[in-house]
Amino acid sequence: MLLRVEDIEVRYDEVPALRDVSLEVHAGEIVAVIGSNGTGKTTLLRAISGIRPPARGRILLDGTSIHTLKAHQIAARGISHVPEGRGVFAQQTVLRNLYLGAFLRTEAERDAALGRVFDLFPILAERRNQMAGTLSGGEQQMLAIGRGLMANPHILMLDEPSLGLMPKLVDTIFELVQRINAEGDLTILLVEQNVRESLEIANRAYVLETGNIALEGAGEELLESELVQKAYLGM
Ligand SMILES: Nc1ncnc2c1ncn2[C@@H]1O[C@H](COP(=O)(O)OP(=O)(O)OP(=O)(O)O)[C@@H](O)[C@H]1O
Ligand SMILES: [Mg+2]
Repeated sequence: MLLRVEDIEVRYDEVPALRDVSLEVHAGEIVAVIGSNGTGKTTLLRAISGIRPPARGRILLDGTSIHTLKAHQIAARGISHVPEGRGVFAQQTVLRNLYLGAFLRTEAERDAALGRVFDLFPILAERRNQMAGTLSGGEQQMLAIGRGLMANPHILMLDEPSLGLMPKLVDTIFELVQRINAEGDLTILLVEQNVRESLEIANRAYVLETGNIALEGAGEELLESELVQKAYLGM
């Protein structure tokens, strides 16, 4: 087991946003967490990356507790968090944004990672000296993912990478997520509201409903489930 979240509770001002949430991620998997607005998807990723530590429960990476560590220590152990809304620095160049993702790495590691990111996203190589703010929404999402990859992580956590993109680009992003997983042998924890596409690429998935896991199973299994079809696929 690479990552294990055990019965966590996460609160904002004493009010729990997540209650008794447990999930597992095995090495090499794509695991999706799907849920509507405000169900706690972002909170879950923030708990794992140490931005919002859980008030109860445990989070284990390779069997070792990480929920008591600081965010930068968790990042150093190989968990990369690509935040909701991308969080790129608009007034910095594409290259500078990518370098920020590798601040914990040596120069040689950084250059190797940059080569891989440019192979994956040729458009970022082309635009490397442009200000990030001049990129399209899809390109900024690629930059955010690229920055996450620059740390050379074991686990890449993506918070709604398809949000706000036009349908064609949504497909592109999901294809890229699959490629990153397959080619880089990289484990992916994906949080999404785009239910069908997520379940299609996920090995396993969890359905989050207001702070609780309502359902879990293989991606294709959940695509067939009545709850998912009725509540999320409008069938
Ligand atoms: N900083 C905060 N302070 C107080 N409450 C918060 C804070 N952030 C989130 N919440 C609350 O916690 C709950 C879960 O929010 P969260 O952002 O994790 O949901 P989400 O599933 O990511 O939603 P979305 O799909 O809109 O991104 C919501 O009720 C939200 O209002
Ligand atoms: Mg969110």
